[in-house]
Formats: sequence, structure tokens, C-alpha cells
Amino acid sequence: MESGSRYRYPILRGREKADVAVVGGGLTGLSAAFWLAKSGLRVALAEAKTIGSGSSAYNCGILAPCHQMMYARISDEKGISAAEKFAQTHIEAIQSIRALSTNPGFSFELQERNGLLAAIKNSETAELNHETETMRKVGLPAESVSFSDASDPGAAFIKVPYVYRINASRYLMQLACNAEKLKAKLFENSRVTAVEVDAVYTESGSIQAPYIVIATGYPIINIPGWYFLRLEQKKIYLYQTEKRHDSDHVIMAADGSYTCIPGETNDLWRINGGFVGTQTGEEGILTSRLRIKKKEDRIAIDTYAPDRIPYIGRYSSKTPNIFVGCGYGGSGLAGSMIAAQAITAQILGLPSAEFDIYSPIHRTISFHDLLRSGRQYANGLFGGFGAPRCSHMGCCLIYQPSSHLWECPCHGSRFDNIGRVVNAPATRPVHLHKRK
Ligand code: FES
Repeated sequence: MESGSRYRYPILRGREKADVAVVGGGLTGLSAAFWLAKSGLRVALAEAKTIGSGSSAYNCGILAPCHQMMYARISDEKGISAAEKFAQTHIEAIQSIRALSTNPGFSFELQERNGLLAAIKNSETAELNHETETMRKVGLPAESVSFSDASDPGAAFIKVPYVYRINASRYLMQLACNAEKLKAKLFENSRVTAVEVDAVYTESGSIQAPYIVIATGYPIINIPGWYFLRLEQKKIYLYQTEKRHDSDHVIMAADGSYTCIPGETNDLWRINGGFVGTQTGEEGILTSRLRIKKKEDRIAIDTYAPDRIPYIGRYSSKTPNIFVGCGYGGSGLAGSMIAAQAITAQILGLPSAEFDIYSPIHRTISFHDLLRSGRQYANGLFGGFGAPRCSHMGCCLIYQPSSHLWECPCHGSRFDNIGRVVNAPATRPVHLHKRK
């Protein structure tokens, strides 16, 4: 959808007024725009490039209540009621997307899949049992199963309920069409470069609105909020393999290192290539496990909160009218629907206690996270003498010949070969006067 797509919506020019300004036209921005417009609010959305062209373009279409072991960790760290809320909000989000699939205004199909969490290492087996018990306690009837996956003989598996495959790009475009039918105004090629408490600005226009939703994947406002200290990022590589495995199982590694998704003629593997700014991961996993049909150069960046619970709700305690949805860690379909429902409820002043666990303003930054972010920033700042500097916070950019992009090792901004922003959090271009 990304390459070669034409603009369907106008550039934001002049001054628009709305009840809610949405920044970003990916799954979160469009889900929020649709849900808010459905509730009768006037919505205006500004997307930097084309609708659905950011991280959402790399969504593999797996709708699931988790993509790796989650529930035992949440229960152990935050209590069983937090794990229950996490499960219930995910189940409701999945049911909402199912309901949309039968809505006359939408036309996309949900295919139920056998979702398997796989423990590859022996040391993970006990954790997988703990995960199974916790999932059952919080209303997700998971069960241990035996399954002989050719790639991982001897692995232990649990079957996860509510796992579906959908065409994510089709779903996303239909969210856009339906939001527009509900009178939401959508703008493309309109990068937001500044945000105030009641307005957002692009180079050629502005949206004045009492409420603002930041849906840019990686939040573009540094302070307040401090998301550049609160988010981790991992590179995700997408590969087509030579064959499809002979089942309809979607296999998700318990540690989140990969997801294997059956396709019509071959499998799609989504490989976690390690943290942004590190060189670990990719090739080792691939060469030991896969025969690659085609290296697609499709690289996405997933963002994670350190506790693996997305940030959804008020952006910061100092900006009660600005909202955010980010940090889904690969669960963009369910996460974006939860964000849309939570933010809509909070803007309308409806009860929203079930979404409390996602609230960014009730979660502190740990010393460990500060240290990790500080080390990563220092490495990025001083790690590339003579390289162009990122327009976000000044780290040295690294050129990636395979994608022809300049990448920032600090918070994952990417720039094309003439310096234009490809991925947030940067909002301004860079000057590329140095050698590649
Ligand atoms: Fe933050 Fe580059 S310094 S993305």
C-alpha cells in the first residue's frame, strides 16, 4: 500500500476547526477518527504522508489477545485484576473488530486461526505453564497442546483463543472511508510539525480543536510526556519463505522473537531483529530456521512500553486534553481499537475504569529505564563522527543500504535519501551533506 500509492485526500491548507484533531493516519489515528466521529464529534485528521503508509503498512493482520507471553508477567507485577482488565479490553476490542466485519459499511473478512504460543527453549516451558494458568484465570481459555511444527520439533505450545487473520490494509482503508462518511475530514501529505494545547500545525495549515490525539506511532511531543525515555523499539523484519507449513496455525514465539503466519503459497515470518540501535538478532535466527524465498527489505519498528502494556490515555498530567495511543509491541490491531474506545470514552466523559491499566500518567519511569535510555542516547549522540544528525534530538544517523534510508539509533526516526522524514518522532527533515 505504501509504495506508489496516490493521495486520496487533500493537503491541509488554511485553518480548520474541529472537536478533535487527530495526528497520524495509521490504525490508531483512523480507529480513533472513526470511533470519535461515530459518537457525533467533528474530527479532522492530519497524516504526514498517505493514509496507512507508516508502521501500519507493515501490519501482518493477526488479531489476537497477545503476541507473546504477557498475562503471567502482568499478573505478577501488577496483580490479577490488571491482567483481567488487559484480557477483557483485548477481548472486547477483538469483538468490536468482528462486529465491524459484518457491518454493511465494511467489507473485510475475519478468518479464525489456531493461535499457538510456542516455547522453544526448555527454560520457557515452566513460564508457559504459568501463562496458561493465568490466562485461564482472566477469562482466556488457553490450553496446552501437542503440535509437531517442522521448524521447532520438541517445542511446547499453548493454544490461545480469539486469534484471527484479517487483511489489515483493507480494514484500515475502510476505517478511513467510514470515518469520512461520518464527516471526519482527512488530510494527507500534511505533516504536523507543532502541537499546542488547542491546535496542531502543518507547513500549510492548522487544526484548532479542544482535544488532540497523538497517533504517530512514536509520540512527536518530547516534553511533557517524556516518551523518548519511556519507550523501547525493536526492528521487525518481514520475510516470505519458500513453502507454507501444512496447517493453519499461527505460531507466536513465547518470547516474542518471531511470528509465523501461514499464507496462500508460502509463509510470512515476522522476525524480531533486536532493539533499535543494536546489531543483534536477524541473521542468526533466520539462518538457523528458515529458507528464505525473498528478502523483502520490509522493516518495521515496533514500540514497547517497558512493562509491555501500551500507553493509552492522557498524554501527560500537564496536558489533560491531549491523548495518546502507542507502544502496542506488535499488537497494533487490537491495541488501536482499545485506544480508540478508551480515548473516545475519556473525551466524552464516559466511565472508562477498565482502561486505567493503560494510563500513561499513572506509570512512572524506573531507574533501569532511565539508564537504558540514557546509554542508548549517549551511544547515538557520540557514535558516528561526521554523520548527519537526526532532527529529533541530534543523534548520529546511520545509512542502511538495503532500505536506502537513514536511520536514527536513538528513537528510530528514519529519513529518505534526500533527508525527508519517513518515520516519527522526527518531524523536520535533515540536511544530508555528509558522505554515506
Ligand atoms: Fe530521537 Fe533521532 S534523536 S529519533
